[in-house]
Amino acid sequence: MKLQGKTAIITGSSRGIGKAIAEVFASEGAQLVITGTSIKSAQEATSEIIAKYNCEAIPVAVDVSKLESCEALVKASLDNFSKIDILVNNAGITKDGLVLKIKETEWDEVIAINLKGVFNCIKAVSKSMFKQKHGRILNITSVVGQIGNVGQVNYSASKGGIIAITKTCAKEFASRNILVNAIAPGFIRTSMTDKLSEERKLIMASAIPLKRLGEVFDVAKAALFLVCDDSSYITGQVLSVNGGAYM
Ligand SMILES: NC(=O)c1ccc[n+]([C@@H]2O[C@H](COP(=O)([O-])OP(=O)(O)OC[C@H]3O[C@@H](n4cnc5c(N)ncnc54)[C@H](O)[C@@H]3O)[C@@H](O)[C@H]2O)c1
Repeated sequence: MKLQGKTAIITGSSRGIGKAIAEVFASEGAQLVITGTSIKSAQEATSEIIAKYNCEAIPVAVDVSKLESCEALVKASLDNFSKIDILVNNAGITKDGLVLKIKETEWDEVIAINLKGVFNCIKAVSKSMFKQKHGRILNITSVVGQIGNVGQVNYSASKGGIIAITKTCAKEFASRNILVNAIAPGFIRTSMTDKLSEERKLIMASAIPLKRLGEVFDVAKAALFLVCDDSSYITGQVLSVNGGAYM
């Protein structure tokens, strides 16, 4: 069991990639803080994961775009488990549009949740991690933060910014034995990519060297590696999980 006795907060773990990460961590013995934007969605995922893995887990509703909400998330986690070993910043949204057409609100919302949300959660958790002198922070960025994408100026800017946050925090936090890394998934089958037409998904898959979209557990298994003791000399890195879409 690679995460026995460890407590992990995973934002956006009510579904998709975040939920798969929660499942893999639960199967490795972690205690979990499972979050969604509503308490109902967090509760449903928590009940399902406890039933499946017989683990300890609590549901918390959070809006990562608000610092007070992230502070409340950290407080609820510390009240229940008395420490936080791992933070996975996974929550994210898309509001796509071409530069000429995108609305200011669509820019602001994506930056507030995807980029400021990562900063807010790191800021909220860092005090307790600094005090305990250890911790793992894993940020979920995207291949489009590395190479850009037509129609995703807000999303790609937010994901590129997450890579910069990752490297800055890795440097700032290293002396406290807090390791900060990122995963850049390619196109993974979730509700986020379900919005795309089947035709678009086939075109995308044909351009990927491994000729398929990724699955949520492809990302979750990489996440396990970057938060467990097997990666204790790795910090400030971006691990691509993209089927070779960008090398
Ligand atoms: N699916 C992909 O192809 C893909 C590719 C690269 C990166 N990613 C990234 O992976 C992460 C998860 O994506 P997914 O496909 O599982 O998405 P998803 O839409 O299935 O899940 C997103 C999660 O984020 C949560 N969330 C949304 N707004 C929030 C807010 N304001 N505060 C807190 N939580 C909020 C939702 O409740 C949900 O749990 C995102 O950061 C996404 O950008 C996804």
